[in-house]
Amino acid sequence: MPDLKSFASDNNAPVHEAIFKAMQDANIGDTIAYGDDLFTFEAEQKFKDLFGQDIKVFFVFNGTGANVSGIAHLTHSYHSIVCAQTAHIHNDECGAPEKFTGCKVLTIPSEDGKIRTSEIKPFLHSVGFQHHSQPKVISITQATELGTVYTPQEISELARFAHQHELFLHMDGARIANAAAHLGLSFSEMVSDTGVDLLSFGGTKNGIMLGEAVVFLNTELAKAYEYTRKQSMQLASKMRYIGAQFNALLTNDLWLKNARHANEMAAMLAEKVAAFPGVKITRPVQTNAVFAAMPPEAIEKLKRRYFFYVWNEQKHEVRWMTAFNTTEQDIENFVKALIESLD
Ligand SMILES: Cc1ncc(COP(=O)(O)O)c(C=O)c1O
Repeated sequence: MPDLKSFASDNNAPVHEAIFKAMQDANIGDTIAYGDDLFTFEAEQKFKDLFGQDIKVFFVFNGTGANVSGIAHLTHSYHSIVCAQTAHIHNDECGAPEKFTGCKVLTIPSEDGKIRTSEIKPFLHSVGFQHHSQPKVISITQATELGTVYTPQEISELARFAHQHELFLHMDGARIANAAAHLGLSFSEMVSDTGVDLLSFGGTKNGIMLGEAVVFLNTELAKAYEYTRKQSMQLASKMRYIGAQFNALLTNDLWLKNARHANEMAAMLAEKVAAFPGVKITRPVQTNAVFAAMPPEAIEKLKRRYFFYVWNEQKHEVRWMTAFNTTEQDIENFVKALIESLD
């Protein structure tokens, strides 16, 4: 039985105690369902305090739901969505974006998880040609699936490009807190000021039990989204519990403390394992993911003790993730197990 401490994903972490308590505190008496309650209103206001007053925010159940319902709201089925080949919407949503939006997903190979305007440009040759799907959304992930982070300049450039060509910029922010912690920037600086149109704001990987937010920075686009959310089966009747969780996450910078801690633990892990011959850190460690290559026999041995994913079988590359609850002792124990597996 592998050690229960997992380095597989921040999804494997428990719920932060302050968030659990907030849910418990919300568990008194009746309140109006479907988001017409004080917990939800308070959470909406907290988002406005962080992103600017001129936004619209809607709560949904999960990250896939946020991505799919948000993008579906901006598109027709003859449109296409441009993203990195590594994008969650392309690899890990079981075709839900294609099924629910009807759009074609066009991918760009990416070594660092990011995409650039020069790589998107070739897709614009289809614009106005009735035989081809019409690019409408550029979707980026912040932090990326490879743990890297777009700078605000890179995001602004993508947004400018998108708007020049009548496209929208969507940001999958499942790990947006980790990205903001890495950059040392506010959400306003990183998202509202850079021209992002639509954001999927993640909480689950940063201490929440369930619930994500769809944030429209361009409020015109939010019109009638409540109907899309309902049709997408993402309207929670007991919304107060999602609101209560976000209230706790966005109070006293808990989101930042959690994310900063997870990032620091990843940096510590990377520094420690890089010292061993046979282990090679394969990608920049900017947030809470560490990618490393190591001998396949050692991977097999370590997997007997810890749960984690092999990212690339051919390259013997693994991914280790930290979370808000990873301790220095966890890292020490893991590194000890790693050394033993290299023997
Ligand atoms: C980049 C990214 N986007 C979105 C999600 C949301 O997925 P879920 O639908 O499991 O909440 C995840 C979860 O792993 C993710 O890593």
